[in-house]
Amino acid sequence: MIKQIYIKRDICIVIHIILVVLVIPGISSLLLFSIVFNYISCKIRTNKQTNKMDSESNELRQRQATFSKELHGQHAGEKTGMSALLSKNNNAQQEAVNKYLRLWDGKTDKDAEERRLEDYNESTHSYYNVVTDFYEYGWGSSFHFCRFYKGENFQAAVARHEHYLAHMAEIKQGDLVLDVGCGVGGPAREIARFTNCNIIGLNNNDYQIEKAKWYAKESGLQDHLQFVKGDFMNLEFEPNTFDKVYAIEATCHAPNLEKCYNEIYKVLKPGGIFAVYEWVMTDKYDETNEEHRKICYEIELGDGIPKMFSVDVARKALKDCGFEVLVDDDLADNTDPVPWYYPLTGEWKYVQTLSDIGTFFRTSYFGRKFTNLMVSTMEKVGLAPEGSVKVTGALEEAAVGLVAGGRSKLFTPMMLFVAKKPLDADSTTATA
Ligand SMILES: C[S@@+](CC[C@H](N)C(=O)[O-])C[C@H]1O[C@@H](n2cnc3c(N)ncnc32)[C@H](O)[C@@H]1O
Repeated sequence: MIKQIYIKRDICIVIHIILVVLVIPGISSLLLFSIVFNYISCKIRTNKQTNKMDSESNELRQRQATFSKELHGQHAGEKTGMSALLSKNNNAQQEAVNKYLRLWDGKTDKDAEERRLEDYNESTHSYYNVVTDFYEYGWGSSFHFCRFYKGENFQAAVARHEHYLAHMAEIKQGDLVLDVGCGVGGPAREIARFTNCNIIGLNNNDYQIEKAKWYAKESGLQDHLQFVKGDFMNLEFEPNTFDKVYAIEATCHAPNLEKCYNEIYKVLKPGGIFAVYEWVMTDKYDETNEEHRKICYEIELGDGIPKMFSVDVARKALKDCGFEVLVDDDLADNTDPVPWYYPLTGEWKYVQTLSDIGTFFRTSYFGRKFTNLMVSTMEKVGLAPEGSVKVTGALEEAAVGLVAGGRSKLFTPMMLFVAKKPLDADSTTATA
């Protein structure tokens, strides 16, 4: 009996020794090995994925730059308006118009919207390839709306709108500022003069960048201004680089506002300010209302916007990124005697000064009809490139949608948000 107990005890000891010396370390090493293996293979996969994305975006960048040269020709920066329009390469112009319009085919269902969201970079690039000359001809070199006061001329009102944003963003002398979606650099030139700051203008359209560089040199501001090609959905600056960031009527082209604001948050220094005039549908907008959806679609189609977001989406996106929202103010929600959309209405009673008559004529209903007729005749006789009329047609739809959206207050192009990256934000990425 005692002998049996001893045998059992010895067996237990042997099993214990086997467990302690062989099995447990074996399992632990296996576990350790699989953790290390998983970590390394995950790293390799991530690197491969990042390299693939980098090479894809480099390829896209190259392709867009080459196409831009082909479409607009050499020294494109210095030509404006009609002279620029008349010097386009015909085939490339047709291709650009088709690339822009291929996804705007009247469909407003979710699948069509999804396709436009996926293609945001190429379609926006194409849109600005074909509309930039018309914008400059009709509006000037700042591509945005503004409020108007009695007696104030058009250009003064545009500049005041830019000064106000610079003031709200607390931009001061010597600040390094990012202009997100800078157009041909009109606002950047005005804000650099107004504050004596240094601005980097970011844009995904090569033609506009070339123009912005040319204007900066012409106006002697080249030491204060730089213009670079980039996508605001993937900013390539070092984290915590900029003192201030602003965006004027540009981030509405983003397929996802939170991702775009996240990128801005990342490159802003802690304590830095982001100020934006955002295009949004207001609280009055009801996506299930057919008339509302029609107005919204006209704005999307005519302005190259994959999807118009509601004010709530923009507000939430800022907060979710970690921004502290300091100002949340729809500047279009007012009782101004001269409405922001007046240049598109054709209502002469709103024209404030003699110097505005030319601008008003070009942007008003009759002026647009006149431009359309002129462009269509030039296209027929082969002076203007084919597709130009399709572009003026889309811009006409935009104007109709913008005025209807403005009158009904379903839409605003000047939802002002001023947001601060907290001083104690220690990470390079946002919280979302
Ligand atoms: C309506 S314009 C406004 C331009 C400028 N902020 C102004 O007020 O004159 C919109 C601008 O956003 C730019 N943009 C659109 N999508 C972009 C993107 N993904 N990355 C960078 N810029 C973009 C366009 O090329 C265009 O210059």
